[in-house]
Amino acid sequence: MPKNITILAIESSCDDTSAAVLRGDRILSNVIASQKVHEQYGGVVPELASRAHQQNIVPVVDTALKQAGIDRRELDAVAFTRGPGLLGSLMVGVSFAKSFAQALGIPLVEVNHLQAHVLSHFIKENDESVVPQFPFVCLLVSGGHTQILLLRSHFEMEVLGETIDDAAGEAIDKAAKIMDLGYPGGPVIDKLAREGNPQAFHFATPHIQGNDYSFSGIKTSFLYFLRDRLAEEPDFIGQHKADLCASIQETIVDFLLKKLENAVKESGARQVAIAGGVSANSRLREGLQKMGEKHHWQVFIPKMQFCTDNAAMVGIAGYFKYLKGDYADISLPPYAN
Ligand code: KG4
Ligand code: ZN
Repeated sequence: MPKNITILAIESSCDDTSAAVLRGDRILSNVIASQKVHEQYGGVVPELASRAHQQNIVPVVDTALKQAGIDRRELDAVAFTRGPGLLGSLMVGVSFAKSFAQALGIPLVEVNHLQAHVLSHFIKENDESVVPQFPFVCLLVSGGHTQILLLRSHFEMEVLGETIDDAAGEAIDKAAKIMDLGYPGGPVIDKLAREGNPQAFHFATPHIQGNDYSFSGIKTSFLYFLRDRLAEEPDFIGQHKADLCASIQETIVDFLLKKLENAVKESGARQVAIAGGVSANSRLREGLQKMGEKHHWQVFIPKMQFCTDNAAMVGIAGYFKYLKGDYADISLPPYAN
């Protein structure tokens, strides 16, 4: 067994600046600075995101080390998100990680953001933490991605299904934008949906072959439905906000779960996980729990701090790569989408 190595991890792919410290597969700290500046624009403004990352990165890393009770000289490696993401945002984390590792004379490990979301299930918080066994299926569902993956090992992932257009989180964010609920829309829709009737309105889901998804049609049908209703009742959104949120959430979550259920059955796996920002959705979490009980599958639902972008997931992915001796070259550029 290698000695319990200590890794500093950096995540800056979109609008969260995050740093974490892991010792082996155990999390010591996970600090996330979310950028509020984008709310007023209804979406992430890349230029503002990279500027905020520059302001946040040093204090966030400092706090992560302090909370972990780790001196920088105790670090064995620096892991960072290389991509995909916004180039200007990635650049901040990548440059920081490189100079930090170089100054300390320790290896660098590059991490793919999507792999990190999936591998977040292997982060251990204590001796009781239970992690998935291979093979297992993971629905990775975020603002940029929607994929059903079969994991055979930490780095062997087969795509069983994926969206052919928008990501589920993107559809949720657009629905929220249409209702003028602000950005990001997922948490607001989730909250308002709790007061609403999920069967109040019906939005058609497309018939897509196999285990693939499509979300652009749902968004359009939501838009046209509202346009027609607003013509008759100008305050339709204000009067039916909770029901609209509950109904659109139900449509999207049902679609996600139906394809997932089918993919898991076909794969023969007995363990199912969800990951990515949309896995914070309470309806999706409940639905997966029920599905697991129905089929006697063991389900893995991430803690909230590991759903949306965070550096702990980068740290765990970096840890497994470090164990393989898979280090990154100092000249490595970030990659965007
Ligand atoms: O993984 P993430 O933080 O960033 C990407 O890599 O995309 O995911 C962000 C997405 C956004 O679309 C956001 O609206 C969605 O996750 N989200 C949620 C919830 N919390 C965040 N969607 C539904 N329900 C939630 N509670
Ligand atoms: Zn993400």
